[in-house]
Amino acid sequence: MKFSFLLLSVLIISTTTTFSQEIFELTTGLDDPRLRFFFHGFRDFVFNTIGKTSYKTKGVFLQEKFRKNAKFPCDVELGKSREPPKSVHKLRPGDISVIGALGDSLTCSTGAMAERITELSMENRGLSWSIGGQWNWRNATTLPNILKVFNPSLVGYSLDDSFPFHKASQFNLAEIGAVSTDMPFMARALVKRIKNDKRVNFKYDWKIVTISIGGNDICSFLCLMKNPERLPEMHRMALTKTLRYLKNNLPRVFVNIVSVPHVETVIMIRGKPQSCSFIHHGECACWVGSLSNSTKESRERWKKIQRQFISVEEEVAKLDEFRRLDEFAVMYQPFTKNVSLIVDGKRDLSLLSFDCFHLSQKGHAWAGTTLWNNMLEPDNKKTLNWASPQRKLNCPSKEHPYIKTYDNS
Ligand SMILES: *[C@@H]1O[C@H](CO)[C@@H](O)[C@H](O)[C@H]1NC(C)=O
Ligand SMILES: *[C@@H]1O[C@H](CO)[C@@H](O)[C@H](O)[C@H]1NC(C)=O
Ligand SMILES: *[C@@H]1O[C@H](CO)[C@@H](O)[C@H](O)[C@H]1NC(C)=O
Repeated sequence: MKFSFLLLSVLIISTTTTFSQEIFELTTGLDDPRLRFFFHGFRDFVFNTIGKTSYKTKGVFLQEKFRKNAKFPCDVELGKSREPPKSVHKLRPGDISVIGALGDSLTCSTGAMAERITELSMENRGLSWSIGGQWNWRNATTLPNILKVFNPSLVGYSLDDSFPFHKASQFNLAEIGAVSTDMPFMARALVKRIKNDKRVNFKYDWKIVTISIGGNDICSFLCLMKNPERLPEMHRMALTKTLRYLKNNLPRVFVNIVSVPHVETVIMIRGKPQSCSFIHHGECACWVGSLSNSTKESRERWKKIQRQFISVEEEVAKLDEFRRLDEFAVMYQPFTKNVSLIVDGKRDLSLLSFDCFHLSQKGHAWAGTTLWNNMLEPDNKKTLNWASPQRKLNCPSKEHPYIKTYDNS
């Protein structure tokens, strides 16, 4: 318990530093040289004390596995070009050689295997929906594990439990407590990491980057802002800046933007375990608990801002400056818009971690599969809710072999 509280305070202190500046500089409190030594040292201590948690092979938090020798459901031949394409609008899944991600604890895969509060400080990055490559598609159905079937020499996915300064995190730059305004900084750090990696042909290799950010902005910082209504515009500026940076500095890249699910989906559920109610007061203080005097009215106000925050993401992705380019494309992938914990008429809390806030390994598999599905669906026909990998896993076809962009669908 003490560890978690300590961790939480460090997190709040460091992220508040970032936030209070309300600027778009390329620094973040999380990596401030004055804090870095303390922060890394402390987190290494936590890492070694808690120990890795992703070795677990039994538990409700695990996804339903495919059979040991199950055949991958797609025709893999169709999923790779003979020669790497020159246009991002002719990109097949197997043409992707490098994968990266920016975001917050959702992308860190915080507590995906957690069974107790202390284990919530472990980041099971190898199992992260958008960037985890531990195991394989049969028992960790993440985006990289699906892409690996089409191109086994994919690089960049996280390999194991790790923090972002550990090598196993690879090109997963996500950081707990990160907010929208941290994205430009993270994008720079990502490009640096990719450029310095000997496995990557920087100019020639096709890359995928998934950005997912906003949970902390909406849960913890909104109610501390002087003018919370400004948040969506700040988000627009930070995202646009990030995309411009990637467009100009990372050759041959396809970017996914995925919204964080509506806070209400997980925070406002009735009859959640007591431990969750307690933890939510810390994780989502603007919406529940006495810290911010949250009321029905204040929540309505946050909901409105949240709606605008999410709309901004789609608007930015569709900006004309990012369209009709050969080596850059960005798509808004909307599956989180209507994500629900109701499965076959019943609420399924096993999609969430021990804190009923982050995703469990099972939740990561559902999110990873549905992100993949969204990538193969045209703009007006994208799935708006998730499903298990067994229920729906899209495949490239003869007629539609390419990853969908706004300009090829
Ligand atoms: C997933 O498969 C890998 C390789 O076969 C194995 O080492 C690992 O323990 C499996 N994990 C689970 C949860 O079954
Ligand atoms: C919450 O309400 C109390 C009593 O009305 C007030 O003293 C306190 O300043 C409020 N806190 C915040 C964060 O608004
Ligand atoms: C969103 O989900 C609810 C139930 O969870 C469903 O009734 C509704 O039709 C869905 N809306 C869309 C646009 O898919």
